[in-house]
Amino acid sequence: MSTVSPPKKTKIAEPHRSRLYDNLVPVYQGLWPAVAKRNIRGAIAAMNISAGTEVLEVGVGTGLSLDSYPHDIRLTGVDLSESMLAEAEQLIEQKQWNHVNVLPMNAERLTFSDNSFDVVTSFHTISVVSKPRSMMSEMVRVCRPGGKILMVNHFRSENSLIAKVVDSAGNITRRLGWRTDLDLRDVVAGLPLRFDRCYKPTPLSFFTIMQATVTKSDDATA
Ligand SMILES: C[S@@+](CC[C@H](N)C(=O)[O-])C[C@H]1O[C@@H](n2cnc3c(N)ncnc32)[C@H](O)[C@@H]1O
Repeated sequence: MSTVSPPKKTKIAEPHRSRLYDNLVPVYQGLWPAVAKRNIRGAIAAMNISAGTEVLEVGVGTGLSLDSYPHDIRLTGVDLSESMLAEAEQLIEQKQWNHVNVLPMNAERLTFSDNSFDVVTSFHTISVVSKPRSMMSEMVRVCRPGGKILMVNHFRSENSLIAKVVDSAGNITRRLGWRTDLDLRDVVAGLPLRFDRCYKPTPLSFFTIMQATVTKSDDATA
């Protein structure tokens, strides 16, 4: 398990247009599940989410993660892409999941009230939104004090050699709206969060799993 050191300030890179994902649904459905699902499933299972928990997933996409959650919770998924959400809705209908609801919404300006959820999750989305810090700040705002944040994403490596190599691939991945140089410390800097776990699922994994507790006080917003 590799831990993440305390926040340090660097510049957050330029953003992306998420409309692109409307056109990527077929590719996405074909290739992505094999890569992503195992990490998501393991990370959700490790949280031991209890019955009745209110969960929000930000950037729910086609609903890849939905069957990894317990079915006795109330789960809301949001995403900017209507095409991705259409796939998620089809899955929800097919599986007859009454505990899941998906909505079109911008991760950077969630329309939920403060402290609405017990758990807020996001997988592989913070590196494609235009303003990653706004998205993280919104996730913290809508999560209740003492609630949990779970994120699976690629973040810039702390190993400078690996970081440089991966940064050079960023010119290609940026065309897919996916930045590779996002530093987790920049994203969480100044937010009321305490890391519970921050690790790579395997030593060579491209992805980091971060679970944190929201430490804001009862009457405060993020
Ligand atoms: C790489 S996909 C990940 C989807 C899903 N979480 C998964 O792991 O398969 C990124 C998702 O973020 C969504 N997205 C991009 N910008 C967004 C924004 N500003 N607000 C909400 N969703 C956004 C895209 O539409 C897409 O569904």
